Order: sequence, then structure tokens, then C-alpha cells
Amino acid sequence: MTRKRVLVTGGAGFISSNVIRHLLEATEYDVVSLDALTYAGNLENLADVMSHERLAFVHGDIRNAELVAEIVAEVDVIVNAAAESHVEKSILEGASEFVTTNVEGTQILLDAVREAPVERFVLISSSEVYGTAESDPMDEEHALNPRSPYAATKAGADRLAYSYYVTYGLPIVILRPFNNYGPRQHWEKVVPRFVTSALSDEPLTVHGDGHASRDWLYVEDDAEAIVAAIEADLDLVAGEVINVATGIDVSVSDIADLVLDMLGKPRSLRSHVEERPGQVDRHIGSTDKAAELLGWRARTSFSEGLERTVAWYRENEAWWRGARRQVTSGYSS
Ligand SMILES: NC(=O)c1ccc[n+]([C@@H]2O[C@H](COP(=O)([O-])OP(=O)(O)OC[C@H]3O[C@@H](n4cnc5c(N)ncnc54)[C@H](O)[C@@H]3O)[C@@H](O)[C@H]2O)c1
Repeated sequence: MTRKRVLVTGGAGFISSNVIRHLLEATEYDVVSLDALTYAGNLENLADVMSHERLAFVHGDIRNAELVAEIVAEVDVIVNAAAESHVEKSILEGASEFVTTNVEGTQILLDAVREAPVERFVLISSSEVYGTAESDPMDEEHALNPRSPYAATKAGADRLAYSYYVTYGLPIVILRPFNNYGPRQHWEKVVPRFVTSALSDEPLTVHGDGHASRDWLYVEDDAEAIVAAIEADLDLVAGEVINVATGIDVSVSDIADLVLDMLGKPRSLRSHVEERPGQVDRHIGSTDKAAELLGWRARTSFSEGLERTVAWYRENEAWWRGARRQVTSGYSS
């Protein structure tokens, strides 16, 4: 029997590199990764598995329809995680790349699947599509009120994928992970920015008073949820939207203090700057549907995940030290 082939887009990024590592360790599947290596893509993220016999890496863009068609014809499952992923960049630098990669790139992949069917297409959407929580926790029926250009493009891709399930019967599963953190996350995001700032004895800048809180998901738990979505009974999950969350929130200012305490740095390093436009106040995800349909629950407590994250950044200074520039504006998801 030939082995299942899984295409994971954005493999040199934070979440996908963890998903690929998990797929290689926990399954027998062959893995193909397609990544354009934007500023956020780093081949170092795959260095330890790059020569694995079950991994093939393709340097290319999900907006390249010809290349995408060629690759899609060769795979059984697609996990589309390639994206412009930085909320603040979408606000400060414009939405164009976000629209073309996040929405059009998804459309190109979906159209390729219409031509060359696959067993399953897992779209990595985002909890940011919900906007500020109107209920606590937010379940999958929560209204979509994206508050940043990034979030709006994720909502566009999310609903586009759903429409291909309804219209063309494609085997779509939509996951909405909450805020991931963990090893190999680009230092522009809030947890690594806090950790690398603290390690550099520089201020940890918090937007507003830091009360904004999120449901923080350790990236290895997210990788397990994504693999569970590949393996769940298709009749149960086709066309479904599933939150990937812990059900617990932690505020940004608490994270800053925890990081400082873990590294033995003074709390006076926490500093506050103006609130960010498009800010989302509070996010807590419901966990019931993922437990029911995927048999998945997050396993890592926030303190344990943060300990592991801090240890990784401490041990891998070469990974971030060269590239990092000090940013004073800062809360991002
Ligand atoms: N990080 C989070 O907290 C979080 C939470 C929920 C959902 N998500 C979603 O998960 C996915 C992965 O997020 P991440 O934090 O790992 O992002 P990331 O920025 O670390 O990685 C994105 C990867 O996609 C690649 N890429 C960008 N544009 C591309 C294109 N046009 N073609 C091919 N590759 C391209 C980049 O080179 C990079 O390797 C994204 O879809 C994001 O929206 C992230």
C-alpha cells in the first residue's frame, strides 16, 4: 500500500514546521511542504528534519497556480497554513499581500483540488475571525467580526473554503486555532518578543494597560489537533469549523510578568505604549467540539508551555539574535 502524501503549506513557518515534525514523528505519511520563504519563513525551522526520507520541500508560492496544480495532483491531503500572519503588519504596511496570499492563495489551492481531488483539505483559519468575544467562551457559532485586515483575510479564506464544501462537495475541514506560542515563533509575535526582550535586558512593551487577554495554545498541542483533523472520520468533520483552544485566557501583562519572573529579570522592564487600533479585547475558545469530533484536548498548561518556550529561546540565541530588531510597538497575535 502506498503511503498517504500530505502537503503542508508554509512549512518553514512557525506552526507548519511543528506540524511537519509531528507528522514525521507520529505518522507514516510522506510530507511535502510548499513555502515561498517570505521574511517569516526560515529553513532553520526544518533543519533537523530537512534530510528526512519522508519529507520533500518545494520552494514556491501558493499563488503560483501552475506549480500548485502540479503538487496537488501528487498528494492525498492538504493542510493550508501558508499565510501572511502578522496582525500588526497588516495594519501598518497594508493589506495587499494578506489578500493575495491568504485569500487568493487559498482559492488557487481549492481550485486545484477541484481538478485533482484529494481525500481532505484542512484549512488553518484563525480565532481572529471572531473579533472581540461576545460570549465566553466563544464557540464556533460566534459571529465573525474580524477587526484587522489580517483577520478579515482569514475570514475570507475560511468562508471561501466552506463555500467549496457546499458548492462542490470538497472534503473541507476548517480549524480555528487560538493564539499559538512555542519554539520557532517569529520574534515579531508577542510571546517571543517578550522572551527575547527579557533575555536582552530590554523593555517588554505592552499595548494599553495589558488587560487584553487571549487563549494561548502551545504549538505542539496545535500540531496534534491538526493531525487529528487529518485522521478523524471524514463524515464527522467534512464542512465543519472546529476551534482549537484551551478554554483558558491569560492577559498580555501577566505574560510579561511571568516571562520576567522565569528569567529572574525585574518587573520594571515591563513598559506600556498606546493601545493598538483594531485591538481585540478578550478571547477564550470553546473546547467541546474539538473534543467531540477530533478526540482532542490541549495537554500543555500555560506555565509548562511558557517554561519550554523560554528554555528554547534561551538555548537558541543564534536563531533569533541576528534577525531581531527592537520594536517598540508591540502587541501582536
Ligand atoms: N500563530 C498563531 O498564533 C496563529 C493562530 C491561529 C491561526 N494561525 C494561522 O496559522 C498559519 C501559520 O501561522 P504561523 O504563525 O506559523 O505563521 P508564520 O508567519 O510563522 O509562517 C507562515 C509561513 O508561510 C509562508 N508563506 C507566506 N506567504 C506564502 C505564499 N504566498 N506561498 C507560500 N508560502 C507562503 C512563509 O514563508 C512562512 O514560512 C497561518 O495560516 C495563520 O494565519 C496562526
